[in-house]
Formats: sequence, structure tokens, C-alpha cells
Amino acid sequence: MTIHVKNNIHWVGQRDWEVQDFHGTEFKMTKGTSYNSYLLREEKTVLIDTVDHRFSHQFLQNLEMEIDLKSIDCIVVNHAEEDHSGALAALLERIPNTPIYCTEAAIDSIVGHHHHPEWNFKTVKTGDSLDVGNGKQLVFVEAPMLHWPDSMMTYLTGDAVLFSNDAFGQHYCDEHLFNDEVDQTELMDQCLRYYSNILTPFSNLVTAKIKEVLSFNLPVDMIATSHGIVWRDNPAQIIEKYLEWADDYQEDRITIFYDSMSNNTRMMADAIAQGIHDVDPAVAVKVFNVSRQDKNEILANVFRSKGVLVGSSTMNNVMMPKVAGMLEEITGLRFKQKKAGAFGSYGWNGGAVDRIHSRLTDAGFETVAGLKTKWRPDGKAMRICRAHGQQIAKQWALHELNVQPMQVVEAEPAPALSVAVPEKQKPQAHGAGCDCMICTVCNWVYDPEIGEPNQGVEPGTAWGDVPDYFLCPECNLGKDVFAVHTRCEVA
Ligand code: FEO
Repeated sequence: MTIHVKNNIHWVGQRDWEVQDFHGTEFKMTKGTSYNSYLLREEKTVLIDTVDHRFSHQFLQNLEMEIDLKSIDCIVVNHAEEDHSGALAALLERIPNTPIYCTEAAIDSIVGHHHHPEWNFKTVKTGDSLDVGNGKQLVFVEAPMLHWPDSMMTYLTGDAVLFSNDAFGQHYCDEHLFNDEVDQTELMDQCLRYYSNILTPFSNLVTAKIKEVLSFNLPVDMIATSHGIVWRDNPAQIIEKYLEWADDYQEDRITIFYDSMSNNTRMMADAIAQGIHDVDPAVAVKVFNVSRQDKNEILANVFRSKGVLVGSSTMNNVMMPKVAGMLEEITGLRFKQKKAGAFGSYGWNGGAVDRIHSRLTDAGFETVAGLKTKWRPDGKAMRICRAHGQQIAKQWALHELNVQPMQVVEAEPAPALSVAVPEKQKPQAHGAGCDCMICTVCNWVYDPEIGEPNQGVEPGTAWGDVPDYFLCPECNLGKDVFAVHTRCEVA
């Protein structure tokens, strides 16, 4: 089957709606993919890329229904990875000695995969061109690391079509070929999933390459990728998205992921998420169990987030293996300008939280202090987790928070909060030995001489007579987090 793309260009690729894994089993495909190959029939007949090796037979069969294979004058290999050059061996068995235009680096990887050093390679560099007749030329642009060192793009003058290979593509299978024909939400979700999971480490190169291509001042009417759709409606939109994603992208979002042996770390994740939401209802908080949920979806959410919180039970004094695997992936993806923190429940030692904290710091995240809970969190521990979330929300806020002072936890009382207390009710310094109590979470001080009239605790009420339902007016935690204020002289 072929699909007309533009003028003398036809799609001769292969759809693959069954595929679920890419890069071994590391990338889960939720919408299939396609391997896009293009046939140009100008005065010269040129094939741009092939398809995955699993479809070699079907690819040749389809191609032969369209043309005599011997009429192919040359093949352009933009990228040697098997999903694009996999059918080369079968094709060249039929048309040996056909020139293959590719980068120098591609010869190494093509020969490394197919073991045919005798193939007729024609090495090209950025700016080299090939006259295909009818007044049109193919212009080659090297694009190393987008996605392999061998990658390049090929531009067809006249028709102004950029054959971009992996760049601007997405693992998305649809009977329609063009971007304006498919579900836009699905399409952009898959574009982001592809970029975040595969191209993030090369963001600096993405920006530089796009600026280089734009500097040529070439019109781009279509971007014909090697996976998914062809961008014919406003192709600049995906270029703009790539520039945005490559620029230390983040949204007002926090991703929490964890693994949990006995549900205890999960309980902590739940309370932390609630605490974040208490203080900043506008922030998107996404919570995932790494052992049960789609890893690539989690990584896409990390990509979109301003910060990430990583939790694990302690097992053999280290973190749980799936969390360790995620941290290895995150390290490789080299996220920038993001914050992070660790948390987890433990029994007799809490090594997991310390190791997660170190790994996040080493991976370039700006880390906050971790949070540990011994055994199953009780009511007090859950309140501390919630307060931890509140503090994270405040520290990581991207906008001014419109919250009541009662909802905010501060390690030290903040001036903005202290002014909320009427002057006459401010605790006075008494010196050691007084009856004041201090909240061990936020340092708010209960002075029996003042009481807490907002909660019906009259001035002169001793701490022992304060009702059990009392909550710290700053961080909302209960009486059990209060301790004797031994340094009241600094209140
Ligand atoms: Fe679509 Fe890098 O292969």
C-alpha cells in the first residue's frame, strides 16, 4: 500500500499496531507505531529509509507492486537503527550495488548490523546535495545523537519537505498519515512521550540543530518523520514544541513515585500528596507505584514536573529494585532545573531514603531533606507526612500562594505568619522553666497565658487542659507533636 504525500513523493512504509515494546522492553508503546519509508520519483528514483527488519518481506512485496525495484537509483539511510534500516539486507539482495547515501558514522553502524562492508556507500556531510532531476535536490543535514551518532535529515528542495527521521516523530499508529487527520490530544501525548523518554538527554543538541536548520532559511512545507504522522498542517508547531521541551521544560506539576512492601510507603505518598494539595490546589500532583504503572508514563510526568518525590520501603538496607531502576533511567535522561526529595518507611534501618537522596542529588536534582517513617505510619506520622507535603508545596511554588496561614508549615516561623497573630496575643519570652509548649514541626508556641481563643482555648488554660482535638494553628498538626519549650527565652 502506498499513500500520496506530495507531488512525486509516496509513503511506502509499514504500520505496526501490534508492537508494544521498543529498545528491548524499555519503551512501552501504547499506540503502536509506524516505520515510514518514502519513495521519490523524480528523474531519479530514490528510496528514503526502509522499515523494521520484521517487515522486510512485506515491505519488498508492497514496493514491487508500486515499482520495479531495479528502477531505484539510490537509497538514503537517514539512520541505521533496525527500525529504519532493517529491510536493507533483503532489499540489497535484490538490487546489489545500489548507492546508499548516509553519514560516515552510519557506515559503522550499518555494517555493524548487516555485516556487508562491500555495499556501495556514499558518505555525505551537512550541506552536501544530490540532484534528483526536475530541478530538485536532496540536501543532507547531519543530526548526530538525534537519535544515534549516525542520524541525519534530508531536505527536498522544490517540494520543501524535510525527511527528519526520528526527530519530530512519535510512536503512533493510525490509518491516517497526516497530522491534521488524527486525534490531536493523542498525537501530542505521544510526541511528548517520545521526546521525554528518548530525546531528553540530547536537548542541547536538539536546540542547536533546530537553530542550525532554521539558519538555512529554507521553507518547510512538510516534515516527513520516520515514525507516526507527517506534519503537513503547520509543521512549525512541532519545531516550536521541541524548542520548548529542550529548554529545561517544566510545568506546575509534582510527580510522586514509589514502591512499597507493606503499603506503608504508599500511605506516606498519599499523605504527602494531600499536604501539597492543601497548600497549592493549583499544582498538578501525579502519584505512581513504579511496580504497577507504566514506567514511560511516569518518566513523561517527571519530564513535565518542577519536582519529583521518590519513595521506597527499605529492603536489606537499600531501596526497592524498581525504584533503583527508575533512578538509573532518570540519571540517564539528565533532567535539569528540577527539584526532588526522598521518603520511605522502614523497620530497623532506613537506608533506602538516604540512598534515594544521594542518587537524586548525583542526578542533578536540587534536593530537599528526606522523610522517614518507622513501621506503619500512625496518625502522628501521617500528619507529619502531610506537613512535609505542605512544606514542599510552599518551597516549590511557582506562583504566590493564596492560603491561610494555618495551612502553612514553616521550619521557622515566617514574618508573614507572625503578623497574623494579634500583637497582644504574641507569646512573650519567659525564660527556661515556663509552661509554654512548642510545635516540633513548625515551631509555633502555645503560651498558656494567651491560650488559643480561635479554638475555644481560653487564656490561662494549662497545656494539660487543652482539648485533644486541638490543632497547631500554623501546621494543623495535633497535640502529640508538641513538646516542652525549653528555650522560651528566644520565643
Ligand atoms: Fe526510530 Fe532511532 O530509531
